[in-house]
Amino acid sequence: DLVIGSAVAGGGHHVDMPYPDPFPNDAQYREVLAEEFSSLSPENQMKWEFLRPQRDVWNFGPADEIVAFARENHQVVRGHTLLWHSQNPTWLEQGDFSPEELREILREHIQTVVGRYAGQIQQWDVANEIFTDQGQLRTEENIWIRELGPGIIADAFRWAHEADPEAKLFFNDYGVEGVNPKSNAYYTLIQQLQAEGVPVDGFSVQGHLSIQYGFPGDLQRNLQRFDDLGLETAVTELDVRMVLPPGGEPTAEQLQKQADYYGRTLEACLAVEDCNSFTLWGFTDKYSWVPVFFPAEGEATVMDEDFVPKPAYTRLQEEL
Ligand code: XIL
Repeated sequence: DLVIGSAVAGGGHHVDMPYPDPFPNDAQYREVLAEEFSSLSPENQMKWEFLRPQRDVWNFGPADEIVAFARENHQVVRGHTLLWHSQNPTWLEQGDFSPEELREILREHIQTVVGRYAGQIQQWDVANEIFTDQGQLRTEENIWIRELGPGIIADAFRWAHEADPEAKLFFNDYGVEGVNPKSNAYYTLIQQLQAEGVPVDGFSVQGHLSIQYGFPGDLQRNLQRFDDLGLETAVTELDVRMVLPPGGEPTAEQLQKQADYYGRTLEACLAVEDCNSFTLWGFTDKYSWVPVFFPAEGEATVMDEDFVPKPAYTRLQEEL
């Protein structure tokens, strides 16, 4: 069964939403979130820097709220994320820890966080963005791989599996929609881990697309080769941005192209048997991260700032 999800805005950098409002207190936003989606992903609220501002200070409130909201509305949750090079707290990145201490910090973190939500998370992004676009491990940027070596990746999956045997455990990345050096690196690594009996259940593509760069036409083929390894696949962070003309209004042509990208992404997932989670990285431009991170770009979600559906919204409805 395919679930259709959205990221839950908060805790990050958004237009009109100063950091770190953890879950928009916005009745219309919450109503659409509850009615249109069957899966929720905390956009920032389960990331290290947000969840754990100090080593011994845990900030579970917003993540708890999202999980409770999902339960009330009969939605599943995707956990995001446990081992990543980005959005780590300063105490961790700048800390002076021995390898033994760091390993213990990660183990404790995974046990605590995955354990807390055990039984309530459908899929966990255990490892996020571990490869560069060239398909090399991010050995310098990623504190865990740098300090502990690549073997820590398998340990993270084992610890997560121990803490919640029901959750499906994923590798997640951007720029891996098509067949390319980066997705090839995952294809190779995952086969090695499977041979070692490491509990890896899935491979997911984020899907931060731009109408400027062209659609990854081999998306279905790429998902299928991971499906053929016995994995689940997913689209986890879909948005389709565009460079806005002066004045900031998208053209009808841009919106059509965007609708086409959304539709083709869903079609690819629908065509692959165990592609069972399809998540938008937010559904309204009101809280989209895109204009903050990509200057002069925007309009990346399926509804405008007033929740008016765009052609992309209609196109997705037609596919479902
Ligand atoms: C982004 C959030 O949307 C922003 O609010 C935050 O400030 C930065 O991170 N890949 C990921 C996501 O795995 O966690 C990122 O989310 C977008 C890219």
